[in-house]
Amino acid sequence: MTMPLIDPFARAIRYLRVSVTDRCDFRCVYCMSENMTFLPKADLLTLEELDRMCSAFIGMGVEKLRITGGEPLVRKGILTFFQAMRRHLDSGALKELTLTTNGSQLARFAQDLADCGVRRVNVSLDTLDAAKFAEITRWGRLPQVLDGIAAAKAAGLRVKINTVALKGFNEDELFSLLDWCAREDHDLTFIEVMPMGDLGNEDRLDQYWPLSDLRARLAARFTLTELAENSGGPARYVRIAETGQKIGFITPLTHNFCESCNRVRLTCTGELFMCLGQEDRADLRAPLRASPDNALLEQAIRDAITRKPKGHDFDYSRQSVGGQMSRHMSHTGG
Ligand code: GTP
Ligand code: 5AD
Ligand code: SF4
Repeated sequence: MTMPLIDPFARAIRYLRVSVTDRCDFRCVYCMSENMTFLPKADLLTLEELDRMCSAFIGMGVEKLRITGGEPLVRKGILTFFQAMRRHLDSGALKELTLTTNGSQLARFAQDLADCGVRRVNVSLDTLDAAKFAEITRWGRLPQVLDGIAAAKAAGLRVKINTVALKGFNEDELFSLLDWCAREDHDLTFIEVMPMGDLGNEDRLDQYWPLSDLRARLAARFTLTELAENSGGPARYVRIAETGQKIGFITPLTHNFCESCNRVRLTCTGELFMCLGQEDRADLRAPLRASPDNALLEQAIRDAITRKPKGHDFDYSRQSVGGQMSRHMSHTGG
């Protein structure tokens, strides 16, 4: 095993999240404004550069790679990149190659992704009602996503559904979502809406449905057992005794998981964010482009890791723009 990158708080960095595009075919209201201006394509790392970046991190001990966006599967040629990453799985250096997707392109890509060594996908899905789906994504088609999820399952991929808990929007679907995931054998994780992206006419506070409340509603109907496992990720898990399901909760605002954080995130333009909730970032594109040799890049990565902060400071209590980050989730990759 390669010596991992260690940050100032003794956390080993084994997990890299990579946003391969800021573009998306949906415009989820909590993520993007209707009229997004996307980055000029020339600003994006090329697929070859993405390969070099990821390979450098893997050489420095990263064992898990999650490809995100935007919607990663709308990036042209993305399959070539997945195919290239397969060599790191084959060598044993990389333990997991995975992605977070909105599912719209999965019907087309699922089998190829499985052939590249992908074993799991996380799919964002906030409602099972086609009209509400079109409303929350602004124009997404639910059947297309359900077909994508079915294709992933048929290709042998494990599916985790990510549902953003939204007050007044999907509160009434808690049990139907749960039922559907049980029937389809998908894992399910609820996410508290985070104060990121354009506010526009939206107010995240209006949308905020605390997972403590969601959980209380589950507990009123089912027997929940807290699972001790901690993957170093943001989710906490419970087991529902009656259905056997494992349900995740991602509550960045009410539960701080920063002490066991094992991840950093690379944007599609080659900036490294050491924390989702902090603005500090390191430019890795310049050292990457400065030389075909990786020495400068590796030094820049090591320097960046020394700046990883202790934790994030999302804060709804301020109820002001102070607690809101203008950065988009699609830029940093969720
Ligand atoms: P696995 O644990 O591998 O299933 O992945 P994950 O749940 O970390 O990945 P996914 O892309 O499904 O992330 C779900 C959501 O978790 C993200 O969109 C964010 O909302 C949240 N999240 C992930 N990482 C962080 C983090 O470092 N900090 C915060 N505050 N939230 C995070
Ligand atoms: N708050 C919480 N989750 C968000 N996502 C996108 N924007 C936000 C936000 N403001 C979620 C998506 C997807 C994951 C990558 O991030 O629904 O599941
Ligand atoms: Fe696209 Fe995901 Fe953002 Fe929705 S949440 S607009 S699917 S990147």
